[in-house]
Amino acid sequence: MPPTDRIYLDNAATSWPKPAAVYDAIDRYQRHNGAPSGRGTYGEAVEVERAINDTRNRVARLLGESDPRRIIYTSNGTDSLNLAIHGLLRPGDHVVTTGCEHNSVLRPLRELERSAGVTVTRVVCGSNGVVDPTAFEEAITRNTKMFVLTHASNVTGAIQPVEEVGAIAKSHGIRFLLDAAQSLGHLPVLARQLHADLIAAPGHKGLLGPLGTGILYIAPGIESQLDTIRQGGTGTASENDWQPDTLPDKYESGNHNVPGILGLGAALAFLAERTLDEVRRDEMRLVERLLNGFQSLHRVRVLGPRDAESRVGVVSITIESYDPQEVATMLDAAYSVQVRSGFHCAPLMHTSLGTSERGGTVRFSIGAFTTVEQVDHAIQAVDEIAASAI
Ligand SMILES: Cc1ncc(COP(=O)(O)O)c(C=O)c1O
Repeated sequence: MPPTDRIYLDNAATSWPKPAAVYDAIDRYQRHNGAPSGRGTYGEAVEVERAINDTRNRVARLLGESDPRRIIYTSNGTDSLNLAIHGLLRPGDHVVTTGCEHNSVLRPLRELERSAGVTVTRVVCGSNGVVDPTAFEEAITRNTKMFVLTHASNVTGAIQPVEEVGAIAKSHGIRFLLDAAQSLGHLPVLARQLHADLIAAPGHKGLLGPLGTGILYIAPGIESQLDTIRQGGTGTASENDWQPDTLPDKYESGNHNVPGILGLGAALAFLAERTLDEVRRDEMRLVERLLNGFQSLHRVRVLGPRDAESRVGVVSITIESYDPQEVATMLDAAYSVQVRSGFHCAPLMHTSLGTSERGGTVRFSIGAFTTVEQVDHAIQAVDEIAASAI
């Protein structure tokens, strides 16, 4: 549990604290095992291999996938998105995405526009940060290969109409890449229901695992279209100097982040103690409190949807006459409230929100261990800062 004097509300960046079992799993592995995964026949290596597979199974179950080999370990959400985007797109391909995306989508696409003759349509989101699914359909061209959409915004918390967009992709034979960075662990993310061909997510946010973990889900058949972006030792087919095409090894070159993955496994076991409905119900109660609190304050503007049901646990605000950076500094220095300020790596979104000129927003993001008292303290702190504005 966090010390009471530190109010960590930056869980959209990475969740903290982690469940105690995560620290224990990492410590136990580092002190008493230390073997690599998939590269030895001695007891400790076999034990590690089993634990790595167990974590893979847990992630697969969460996504409603029966074949765990369809889960690729990566080092974070960015890494997963890069593999999906660089691995799938070819010169001449067209992509439809939105202006609400994170730079881990926007920058790889910008790079492929520059270097590989890929073209990109960036659909504009409404002033509440939500995209109209028909805009995806209208943007389709003969060359459209892929849709990329974030499940929930890391700036406003707005949940996007991902199932509708997935259905449009499917009906046109277009690949759908879902960025589940802010939804996995918070909302149901079922690959088939959402018609997702690829799902990218960090292990260190809503899944409560350690930093340095991430996953990419790839639907059946995608592996024949998805190139590797790294090659190397996989611990399998070592007699060959070419990359194996078996899953998951094809995309998992180099030693695994074993402590991270074992920590992630412990986090997933912790998450499995409750249903997602229960997690969601508790988060929404806190988000509703935060939203109602902020909405009642003078000089405070709340961005994104007004209701808690349309969001994950992320709430962005601006305070009249203050730069977001100033607010975040005051919150930390005077109230021990730790939040993030600025553009949150989503530069295009601030145009639709009208928050570009003052340098973005102040973002509060709740986590699995956030309490009502912490939320009330944050509201009180914002009230005092807003009241001091001239
Ligand atoms: C919507 C979204 N996508 C992708 C990422 C990238 O994830 P990571 O920080 O694990 O690379 C983030 C991180 O904040 C995010 O919020």
